Amino acid sequence: MADSSSKMEKIISLCKRRGFVYQGSEIYGGLAGTWDYGPLGVALKKNIENLWWKRFVTDREDMYGVDAAILMNQNVWKASGHVDTFTDPLVEDTKTNKRYRADHLLEDAGINTRGLSVEKMNELLVEKKIKSPDGNPLGEVRKFQMMLKTNIGPVADDASISYLRPETAGGMFVNFKNIIDTFHPKMPFGMAQIGKAFRNEIAPRDFIFRVRELEQMEVEYFVKPTEWKEAFESYRKGMWDFITEDLGLNKSSVHELEVSDEDRAHYSRRTIDFEFDFPFGKKELYGLAYRTDFDLTSHAKASSVDLSYYDEESKERFVPHVIEPSFGLGRSILAVLSDAYSEDELGGETRAFLKFSPKVAPNLIAVFPLLKNKPALVDKAREVYSELKKKFTRVSFDDNGNIGKRYRRQDEIGTPFCITVDFDTVEKDNTVTVRNRDTGEQERVVISELVAHIEKKVV
Ligand code: GAP
Repeated sequence: MADSSSKMEKIISLCKRRGFVYQGSEIYGGLAGTWDYGPLGVALKKNIENLWWKRFVTDREDMYGVDAAILMNQNVWKASGHVDTFTDPLVEDTKTNKRYRADHLLEDAGINTRGLSVEKMNELLVEKKIKSPDGNPLGEVRKFQMMLKTNIGPVADDASISYLRPETAGGMFVNFKNIIDTFHPKMPFGMAQIGKAFRNEIAPRDFIFRVRELEQMEVEYFVKPTEWKEAFESYRKGMWDFITEDLGLNKSSVHELEVSDEDRAHYSRRTIDFEFDFPFGKKELYGLAYRTDFDLTSHAKASSVDLSYYDEESKERFVPHVIEPSFGLGRSILAVLSDAYSEDELGGETRAFLKFSPKVAPNLIAVFPLLKNKPALVDKAREVYSELKKKFTRVSFDDNGNIGKRYRRQDEIGTPFCITVDFDTVEKDNTVTVRNRDTGEQERVVISELVAHIEKKVV
C-alpha cells in the first residue's frame, strides 16, 4: 500500500473522479474549508446518517428527534459559554501576515500541546525558536473566536448579531422545555439531531477532516444527576457498536482517549475522545462528554425560563444532567473511506477499490447484461435489476464498456456485488453470476434465489 500522504492523495483523487466529494465553489478557485458532496458521496452520507438515526433514535423508545434552526438568538451562545471561550490559539507570521494555529505549529515540531494555555504556547514557540512555515518570525499567540458571526435583518448593529451554530447541541437544549411540555417524557430520555454546524477554523486541513462547514450527529441524553455514569457507559458501548457494526471500521484502528482536566471543553466533567488512525495520523473521530447540568442551568439563568424537570415517580424536581455522544459526519465518511481504500492485483492488473461494508456502500449491487447489443440479455438483466431494486434500493444498472471495465468501475466505488446476466441465464438454467468485490470470485446463483443469497451475505 502507498505511503500515508499518497494514500490521502489517492483517496481525494478517487473521491473527485468518481463523484464522492468535490472542492466547494471549485470553478471560482474554491473556498477553503468547504466541500461539496456528489451523488456517491451523498449516498454514502445518507447511509451513515440513516444507520446512526436508526441505532440512536428509532430503535429506542426514549429518544426525541429535532431539527432546530441553524441561526439562533445570540444569547444562546452567550449562555453556553461559546462567545467567551470557543477560541483557538492563533499566531501570525510577522512578515507575510499569514495566520496559523499555534498548537499545530508546536505539534509539527513534535511538542504535545494538550492542555497548554496560550501563554505557555507563546513561551514554547520562543524557547524552541519555532518559525512560520515560510521561515519568518512569529508574533504573539492570541485567542481567535471560532464562531461565524452574521447580522440578521436590515440593520447591522450589536442587537442584530447572530451566529451560525458551532454545534448542533444548542438547538436541543433550547427545545428541552418544548419536548417536556409536548411529550411528558419519563426520565431518562434523550434528544437527537443531525445537521450543519459552522466553525471559523484558522487552518482547515486534511480534506474533509477539518472543515468550516461541518455536519454533526448528536444526542443530548438527560438523566438524574446520580445516574450519569450508567448512561455514559451505555453510550460508550453504543458508540463502539456504531463504529464496528454499522460503519464496519476495523476495531484496531479506533482508540479511546480519556481527555485530561485541562483539555476538556468548558462544559464537560468527563470526556472520552474516540480517535481513528487516519492516513495523516491518529486524530479525533468522535467525542463522548458528561456535560453535567451546565447547559440547562446556564440557559435557565440567562432566559429566566424554568428548565428543571419534575419526576412524577420520585416526586422530586431537579435539573437533569446530560451525557452527549457527538459524531462528526464528515469524519465518519473520511474514516470509512480511509479504512476501505485498498489496492491489490487482480487478473495481472493493479486495482484500487473501496472495501465498504455492505451497510454503508453507496451501491449494494450492480446488474449487467454481458453484452449491451443482445436484447434478450438486456431485457433479462433489466428484469433482475427491477426485482432487486424493489428489495434493496441501492442497486444500479450498467451496460457501458466491456465487462472487465464495469467490474473495475464498481470496485472503485465499493459495490460489494456485481451480477451478470449471460447466455447461460437466458438459454440454459436461469442462473446469473454473482461476483464478490474483494476476492473477484464468481458463483452462479438461480435468479429466484438471488434475494436470499444477497440477504445472507449482508446481515
Ligand atoms: N457538541 C459537542 C461538540 O461539538 P466537538 O468535539 O467540538 O464537540 C464534536 O465536536 C465532533 O464534531 C468531533 O468529534 C468531530 O467529529 C466533529 N468536528 C468538530 N469540528 C470539526 C471540524 N472543524 N471539521 C469536521 N468535523 C468536526
